[in-house]
Amino acid sequence: MVQILPSLLSADFARLAQEITSVEAGGASMLHLDVMDGHFVPNITFGTPVVESIRAATDLKLDVHLMIEHPERFIRDFVRAGADSISVHRETCAHLHGTLRMIQAEGILAGVVINPATPVIAIEEVLDFVDFVLVMSVNPGFGGQQFIPRTLAKILELQRRRRELGLNFPIEIDGGVNLQNLAEIVRAGADWIVAGSSVFHSDDPGLTVRQMQELAREATAIRV
Ligand code: DX5
Ligand code: ZN
Repeated sequence: MVQILPSLLSADFARLAQEITSVEAGGASMLHLDVMDGHFVPNITFGTPVVESIRAATDLKLDVHLMIEHPERFIRDFVRAGADSISVHRETCAHLHGTLRMIQAEGILAGVVINPATPVIAIEEVLDFVDFVLVMSVNPGFGGQQFIPRTLAKILELQRRRRELGLNFPIEIDGGVNLQNLAEIVRAGADWIVAGSSVFHSDDPGLTVRQMQELAREATAIRV
């Protein structure tokens, strides 16, 4: 089933617990947490103490997206803080295979992320064992950016490779997803849909998640 993952980056950090409760009531089962270091991306967000507090406040799965240099140095800390899945960027990992294996050795799901300018071929060698692939549909760093349309071709390509290789890793998409473009993205093959500003800047985040789930369900029925 296609999942909507609200990204807390666009939530009100002074009211995090309520924001989480509202998307949980809307049917979300996973939360997307964006960790940024001000080096790999031109923005700084939060680290393990915030993840730990969120872990204590909810039973939802926590999907931690590491937009940091040397992610391998911090994996154990984020696992201890409560991550259920961790994704690392192809662009930050000189030893991508080892870093993904390190995440899996901690007993959680390992994802690989590619930026808009990174082709699918750059992760070909890890497709057979990775737990999920995250395709960035904006340049990472900020919420509220416009979806880059060319990303759809990458989702289609990944879906094709997945089928050819007989694999079933979920394809995650992150950036610029809203109620208008969601159906097309799901039809292209995305399974985990991250949505930040379109959820938390809406009047009713819970309702928006519910509407997105419904649109995703309809779109799955007519996948390409
Ligand atoms: C951007 C982050 C995203 C961000 C998406 O670098 O990785 O997860 O929260 O925000 P929207 O959905 O507003 O594009
Ligand atoms: Zn993200």
